[in-house]
Amino acid sequence: MKNVRIGIVGLGTVGSGVVRILKEEQKLIAQQTGLSFEIVKAIIANPDRKRAAYLQDVALGTDIDQLLDDKSVDIIVEVMGSVNEAKTLIERALTVHKHVVTANKDLIAQYGDELAELATKNGVALRYEASVAGGIPILQILRTAYKADQVHTIAGILNGTTNFILTQMDEQGLTYDQALKAAKEKGFAESDPTNDVDGFDAAYKLAILTKMAFGISVPQSDIAITGIRELAIDDVKAAQAAGYELKLIGLSDLTAEGIRLAVAPMVVHKNQPIAQIRNEHNAVLVKSQNIGTALYVGPGAGQLPTGNSVVADLIHVGQTITSNGEVYPFALKVAETQPKRVSGNSSYWVLVATDDPDSLAENIKLSFAGAQISNEMTIRGFDPHQAWTSLEVTAASLVAEAHFTNTMQRLADVKAIYPVLEA
Ligand code: HSE
Repeated sequence: MKNVRIGIVGLGTVGSGVVRILKEEQKLIAQQTGLSFEIVKAIIANPDRKRAAYLQDVALGTDIDQLLDDKSVDIIVEVMGSVNEAKTLIERALTVHKHVVTANKDLIAQYGDELAELATKNGVALRYEASVAGGIPILQILRTAYKADQVHTIAGILNGTTNFILTQMDEQGLTYDQALKAAKEKGFAESDPTNDVDGFDAAYKLAILTKMAFGISVPQSDIAITGIRELAIDDVKAAQAAGYELKLIGLSDLTAEGIRLAVAPMVVHKNQPIAQIRNEHNAVLVKSQNIGTALYVGPGAGQLPTGNSVVADLIHVGQTITSNGEVYPFALKVAETQPKRVSGNSSYWVLVATDDPDSLAENIKLSFAGAQISNEMTIRGFDPHQAWTSLEVTAASLVAEAHFTNTMQRLADVKAIYPVLEA
C-alpha cells in the first residue's frame, strides 16, 4: 500500500466533502488503487467554527507554511476559493515540487496556462476536475475519450444557480427575484450572486472546456457574456409557447470562419435532452467527428459530487506518483492555428415581442426587404392572446447574429431575441 500525504487548504463545502469521501471510501479506494490517503493537516481561516463530527480528528492549522515546508506532503488540495491568494499558494506549492489539486475555476480560467507551465517545469501535476460542472467528470472525459476525436462544439448548462432560477421561474411561476432568493436559501447562490447571474462563472468554465477540448486559450474578454438578470417570466413563457426552454448556455463553436464563444440566454427546443435539465443540474454537450453528439449530465455543485471530483484527481495524482504517469495539466491538444474569434452565426431565433404576430412578421419582412435573407425567412407566430407574443424566425442561410439583432432591435415591439441552440 502506498501512503499519499495530502494537505488541504480550506474546509468549506468542498473541502469537507473531500475529507468525508476519503474517510468513508478508504477501503474502496485502497482495493482499486493500492493507495492510502493521509490528511496531514487542513488549513482553515476560522479555527473557532463548529465542524461536523467526521472532521473532528483532522489536524487543523492556520499557517499555510506548515504544509509547504513539510517535505513529506505530496499533494496540496486548494479548495479555499479566491484568486490572488490561491494563485500565490499554488505557485509556491508547485515550486517546492508538490502536486496540486484545485477546484478553483476563476483561477484556472485566468491563469491556467502559466500555472500549467510552472507545474510542468517542476515535474508535478496540476489537476482541476472539480472546477467545471461539479460532479460531471467532463475534463477527464475530454482528456481521455476524445484523444483520437476532433471536437468542434461544446455547449452546456454550466451554472447550477442560474439553471435553478430559470427552472423555478418556469415551473413555479416565481419572479426572477423570488427565484434568486430561493437559490440563496438552498445555498446555491452566493450572497453576492454576480458571478452566477451575470454569466462570469459559466464563462470561466467555458474557457477551461475550450482549452481542454480545442487546445485554445481563451481570455474572458473574447467571450460575449450576457447573464439572466434582465429576464422576466414573460420571456420564459414566450419561449415555451414557441416550443422552447430558455437556458443560460455556454457555447464554444469551432467553425471554418473562426471560433464563436458566448455565454447567453438561448432557447433549446423542448424535444432536445438538454432542455430537460432542471434546477441545479449541469449538462455538457460535446459534438465531435467520431462520437458525434454526446450529452454529459449531472450535479453541478454540492459537497459530495464536487468532493468526488477532487478525490478522483487525488487518485490520478497518487497513481502518477507511483507509476510516473502523464502529468501535463491540459489535454495535449494543440490548435493548429489560433482561429479568429467570430461574433456568431445563427440561422434560427426566437423573438419575444409585444405586438401581434402577424403585423410583427410583416414588419420583420419589411426590415430585411432587399436583403437575400428576406426571401429565405420563415416566421411563425405563437400565442397572440397574452401580454407578450413570440415568433420563431428561421432563415435558411446563416446571417451574422449582430446584424440580425441590430435590425430587429430597431423594431419597437421586439423586446428580446434569443438564438436557438442546435443541440
Ligand atoms: N456557483 C456555481 C454554480 C457553483 O451555481 O454552478 C459551482 O461552480
